[in-house]
Amino acid sequence: MDRLEKLLSQMSVHDKIGQLTQYNAMLFTETSAEITGPQQKLGLTDEDLAAVGSVLNFSSVQEVKDIQTAHLQNDPNQIPIVFMMDVIHGYRTVYPIPLALGCSFDPQIAEECSRVAAREASADGVHVTFTPMVDYVRDARWGRVMETCGEEPRLTSALAAAQIRGFHGDGMEKPGNLATCVKHYAGYGGAEAGRDYNLVEVSERELREYYLPAYKACLDAGAPMVMPSFNSLNGVPSIANSMLMQDILRKEWGFDGVVISDYNAIGELLPHGVAADQKEAAKLAFENTCDIEMCSSGYFHHLESLINEGVFTMEQLDAAVMRVLKFKDQLGLFDDPYHGADEKLASSLFLCDAHREVVKKAAAESAVLLKNEGLLPLSEKLSKVAVIGPFADEHGINGFWSAHGKNEETTTVFEGIRNILGADKVVTAKGCGNLWDDKDCSGFAEAVEMAKAADAVVLCLGEPQNYSGEGNCRTDLRLPGLQEALAKQVIAANPNTAVVLFNGRPLDVSLLDKIAPAILTMWFPGTEGGSAAAELLFGKCNPCGKLSMSFPHNVGQCPIYYNHPNTGRPRWRSQPDHRGYASDYIDCATLPLYSFGHGLSYSNFVYSDLTLSSKTLTSDGSIRVSVKVRNDSSVPGKEVVQLYMRDLVGSVVRPVQQLIAFEKLSFEAGEEKTVTFTVTEEMLRFWNMKGEHISEKGDFTLMIGHADHFVLSDAFQLV
Ligand code: NOJ
Repeated sequence: MDRLEKLLSQMSVHDKIGQLTQYNAMLFTETSAEITGPQQKLGLTDEDLAAVGSVLNFSSVQEVKDIQTAHLQNDPNQIPIVFMMDVIHGYRTVYPIPLALGCSFDPQIAEECSRVAAREASADGVHVTFTPMVDYVRDARWGRVMETCGEEPRLTSALAAAQIRGFHGDGMEKPGNLATCVKHYAGYGGAEAGRDYNLVEVSERELREYYLPAYKACLDAGAPMVMPSFNSLNGVPSIANSMLMQDILRKEWGFDGVVISDYNAIGELLPHGVAADQKEAAKLAFENTCDIEMCSSGYFHHLESLINEGVFTMEQLDAAVMRVLKFKDQLGLFDDPYHGADEKLASSLFLCDAHREVVKKAAAESAVLLKNEGLLPLSEKLSKVAVIGPFADEHGINGFWSAHGKNEETTTVFEGIRNILGADKVVTAKGCGNLWDDKDCSGFAEAVEMAKAADAVVLCLGEPQNYSGEGNCRTDLRLPGLQEALAKQVIAANPNTAVVLFNGRPLDVSLLDKIAPAILTMWFPGTEGGSAAAELLFGKCNPCGKLSMSFPHNVGQCPIYYNHPNTGRPRWRSQPDHRGYASDYIDCATLPLYSFGHGLSYSNFVYSDLTLSSKTLTSDGSIRVSVKVRNDSSVPGKEVVQLYMRDLVGSVVRPVQQLIAFEKLSFEAGEEKTVTFTVTEEMLRFWNMKGEHISEKGDFTLMIGHADHFVLSDAFQLV
């Protein structure tokens, strides 16, 4: 009998159920002589708390150590607690939100960022992070688009796998590394009307084509945990959805790791109306193989009676507990329950130069230059630059999931520009606030005067950090408050105005697109965001980010995404003025304002000479597709070369465009490179009406380039 089996055989049913629960640290640190507060609400006894197997949301390394020590002093089984936390885009040193990282198209950067977070969080007592979040998204109204890598499953998968590599490092059992938990399985990003927690209705074919690949990619990359999503999928909440949990996750994909519910998701089966009471909720979750219940108490209250009543067997309970024990063993907790948690180490890592350097590079490579009519880069010789707007000197640009980062430790754009030009050449004014209800234009006059007196203006606009993230959805994607009015006046006062955006989602910037000569989105860039913005604006860095999610002209276009299937009445790019009975709007363009893959540079990349090694592809063969890419400028830069395919005829309607590969390359001024991709049959597969993942013989075309400049191939044939 191995160590874990022996341990399991010694445990009481109550001990076992304890391993299947997770609660907030707060419950363990409140004095429980009298049971009050959340503990009382959950109906948990002190005996229950003593048996709890995992804890989330603690505030310090000391708290972790205290909880672990107290637990081990009393636990007859000596099973350490596993500590989990949302470490989403950094810990104390914050890096760009995942939607921004998506724009880097750079798995290496995503991996380096995750290493930074893993080192800091691990030293601070974290064992597991609830990331990567790989929900497929199309609707910018949904606040949680900021947590995803965007609207492209292949890109999301590549970046998520890189994050997992970064967090796991040289082994999740070693201090300095974290285990990961892929979430939110499945379809959460399809929330109807972009409203968080709302129902999701997608066909199984659509689910498999767009939504599921990234979760699967995370499991293939070794993610040991899965968190089902809050939403109902085609009528049944994920945690109780047997098709998702049993048929696909456990049977088809063979996942034998730990499933943890989302926060109170088992409890929420009651308001969902699929469970009459807590007991039924616990039954539904457990029968669908949810191992750990987070922050509700159905398992503690009902699992034992469900076993006694014969609804579940002891073998089923043991299997779930064994998955948790194996995970703890995999984390090395039986040998080192503190997993290297060390206050001194943590503070030496927090905001250290090496970590700052990584997050600054990430912020620079995630920024996207949306528009530039030759204003950028600004010259360092300018004698007066006005940095205006509610985000000009705003430290709150870390983004929603940065509870451990401190706003005051983050550089602002104003500070960044001062560092480059010197304090005497840079002035700043807010002009207005950035909230919906801000109707105070008393700062406009100062801003306009400042703009007039400056050689150039950097106008920093956006939405506050808490306008995106969990529960923060919008029905209007324009800049909140008086920011558009401010932009009109400032740009009229000084046409040399570059707009810098801070945003957790694609915004409706149609007005800015009309009036501003340059727009750079920094998203929420993290600790070094202000310095990275300044370096981009003054050409110390060359923008190279490409959009991971399309910017609509306005909210009425949502959901909008580049890889949409065609209609029988398409609006072709070549007939923009054609009217009538086409799939379009009478008051707005059909295509987005800035599409997925768009992003300008100070270099000028020219694509030519696309060649195919063959006009036919066999199912076991490959075709090489090459293109010449030339940096037709005097500025060194990076380009994301994107390969798209189109399946011209299929048994189901195929997307007009689908990314199948990409490569980010550096170019010296004037340098030309030949870039070659290999196309195989596997890249042409899709889910047909019979639920098979297949390719079909016929003609395909390829496109290389990006949203603004594509070269097209002749058709090739899959035989
Ligand atoms: C709810 C969120 O949906 C999830 O992403 C997060 O990991 C948990 N809360 C834990 O904080």
